[in-house]
Amino acid sequence: MTIVKLHPLFVAKFNAVDISRPIDEPTFRNIEETLDEHAVGVFAGPRIDEEAQITFARRFGTLEQQNGVLTTGIKARISRQLVDISNLDDSNALLAQQDRRRMFSLGNQLWHTDSSFKRTPAKYSLLHAHSVTPEGGETQFADMRAAYDTLSPKMKARIETLVAEHSIFNSRATLGFTEFSDEERRAMPPVHRGLVRVHPGSGRKTLYLASHASHIVGWPVPDGRMLIRELIEHATQPQFLYTHRWSVGDLVIWDNRCTMHRGRPYEEGIYRRDMRRATIQDLDPGVQDRRVA
Ligand code: OGA
Ligand code: MN
Repeated sequence: MTIVKLHPLFVAKFNAVDISRPIDEPTFRNIEETLDEHAVGVFAGPRIDEEAQITFARRFGTLEQQNGVLTTGIKARISRQLVDISNLDDSNALLAQQDRRRMFSLGNQLWHTDSSFKRTPAKYSLLHAHSVTPEGGETQFADMRAAYDTLSPKMKARIETLVAEHSIFNSRATLGFTEFSDEERRAMPPVHRGLVRVHPGSGRKTLYLASHASHIVGWPVPDGRMLIRELIEHATQPQFLYTHRWSVGDLVIWDNRCTMHRGRPYEEGIYRRDMRRATIQDLDPGVQDRRVA
């Protein structure tokens, strides 16, 4: 295995490693250490099947099980162990413009980190490309450690102990999408998470932000929204971003604790984009829901 940096701040490409087969312990440790430093890792094809993706993902920890926020009237297209990041229905046809799955998925185009709204958030996501678009449909990543490092000392002091409320219904409400059943709403109550955290693998401080974050606990809602918006604007300046252009067979792994990401638009009515995501839980007790019951 060889490692190439794809960006001055973060993102490593792993060459000459076959992720469809068992990886020996020293190589795997090297991958984990590289991810602690670079936060995003890219593996090129060929395409692997769902089983191989799940097996590879499990090396990194415990898979998120409850996949998909939409449950009412939804039939799964892919394994329930994976998240369907596609514009396809369960018969592999393009989703209609009005389909609630499509409108819900548009939320992936807002800057976010995966599962920050779940009781147990995500450590890593491993997204694998089965079909890609000839234009658009890139995924962008932001280095939240670099974003934190470049805040003014005054801002760092201001946010050090702040806690944000995260809810999936907030990011979707931003889009004007509110078509959730009572059952779906009940399944995902909001959670509270610190805005600043220390990344355990690198010891670096990092911002923990997402479109799911709706306000700062204990602050007037408008003040909290403006602060979150200001910090996201800061963190997504061009120098902190890497844009991944997908090829079939790519698998990109990112550390949700210290990056944000977003999908870029594409012509959903024309192109088929079929991506499948394995998600690893963040079981670190220090990051669990801070909400007082
Ligand atoms: C995801 C995600 C963005 C994209 O898989 O978690 O947000 O580019 N994907 O599809
Ligand atoms: Mn995501």
